[in-house]
Amino acid sequence: MTVPGYRDMPADTWDPSAPADPAEAEEFLRLCYTEQPRLGPVEPRLAAVRAQIAATGTYTHTSEELTWGAKVAWRNASRCIGRLYWRSLTVLDRRKARTADEIFSLLVRHLDVAGGGSALRPVISVFAPAVPGRPYARVWNEQLIRYAGYRTEAGIVGDPRYVSFTDAMHAMGWRGRGGPFDVLPVVVETPDEAPRLFELPEQAVLEVPIAHPELSWFERLGLRWHAVPAISNMRLRVGGVDYPLAPFNGWYMGTEIGARNLADPDRYNLLPIVASGLGLDTSHEATLWRDRALVELNRAVLWSFERAGVKITDHHTESSRFLAHMRNEEKAGRPVPADWTWIVPPMSGGATPVFHRYYHEADQRPNFYLDSEAASLARGTGVCPVLESAPLVPVA
Ligand code: ARG
Repeated sequence: MTVPGYRDMPADTWDPSAPADPAEAEEFLRLCYTEQPRLGPVEPRLAAVRAQIAATGTYTHTSEELTWGAKVAWRNASRCIGRLYWRSLTVLDRRKARTADEIFSLLVRHLDVAGGGSALRPVISVFAPAVPGRPYARVWNEQLIRYAGYRTEAGIVGDPRYVSFTDAMHAMGWRGRGGPFDVLPVVVETPDEAPRLFELPEQAVLEVPIAHPELSWFERLGLRWHAVPAISNMRLRVGGVDYPLAPFNGWYMGTEIGARNLADPDRYNLLPIVASGLGLDTSHEATLWRDRALVELNRAVLWSFERAGVKITDHHTESSRFLAHMRNEEKAGRPVPADWTWIVPPMSGGATPVFHRYYHEADQRPNFYLDSEAASLARGTGVCPVLESAPLVPVA
């Protein structure tokens, strides 16, 4: 089966010059007004939207439509195991913001609403929609908070995933401290301004130092992670209208940090270091030293977040909540699109209930999409006007 966005099949490519699709608008509005009867009859609204699309190529969502659209985009996010809470999303309507300064200060506000006081809440900030054929504002970063990666003679320091992005930041004048957990600047690009770099204020970035409940040496590894995962380069598509800048966050499931960010060989690659701290026999795979190190690293992550009073969830709890979400949705007569390869946690898969079944595979809208241009900007390999216009060697 080939479903866009699942496994090898890319999601449909976005054409920023195409007008809003009236059929997609109608499908969205009917669903929106059916699921929320308090909004009244949909027919007059449909007529107004059809006329607006015919006249301008697009239409403007009411704030109720936008709020509901963002929540349902989360409900339809087939790779997300945390969808039980989709109704609780706080939607910040930022469609009026235009300048890079305004946008950046609202990104800082976003982090404050999401994590101020450490009781994390799911938030999305929706900035101006793309107008067909016109340039739009965007953020280059993959997430609002991420750590730099530096190439050094002794190897990579920091997050290897962001080495090229960090190089691009250097080329644009940023100077990192060269540490393993330096928060990257945020790049805001607007139609009227060249890409601009902004440094997040310290109080906007909640971080958790990682220690272990029993192993005292663990703390000396000097590990930490940021509390809020805030994806900033996915496009929100609601009823045929695209919002290229709509950063959103939830809270972490421990394995994202302990079994991927800190453990993957092409990320912080800490399993050999943790194994050596544990004194494990790493001479052959069958000692399962990797698995044993993984368990202790993940216990450390969960324990440290709990100790700091920062919301986090474990993969067993979240798996059974996801199945509860599926039951709720099925009761409401709605299929739950899900991608097994993303839903099953990256450790102890078979010990969680989400492993032992198949899922409905579909691209349901509203939804979030990652465009290839946005993905390459976030990796520091995209089109960079500043780098392109800068001569590599001084011209005599
Ligand atoms: N896996 C990503 C990370 O480690 C975050 C993706 C979103 N996760 C979430 N819990 N909302 O940073």
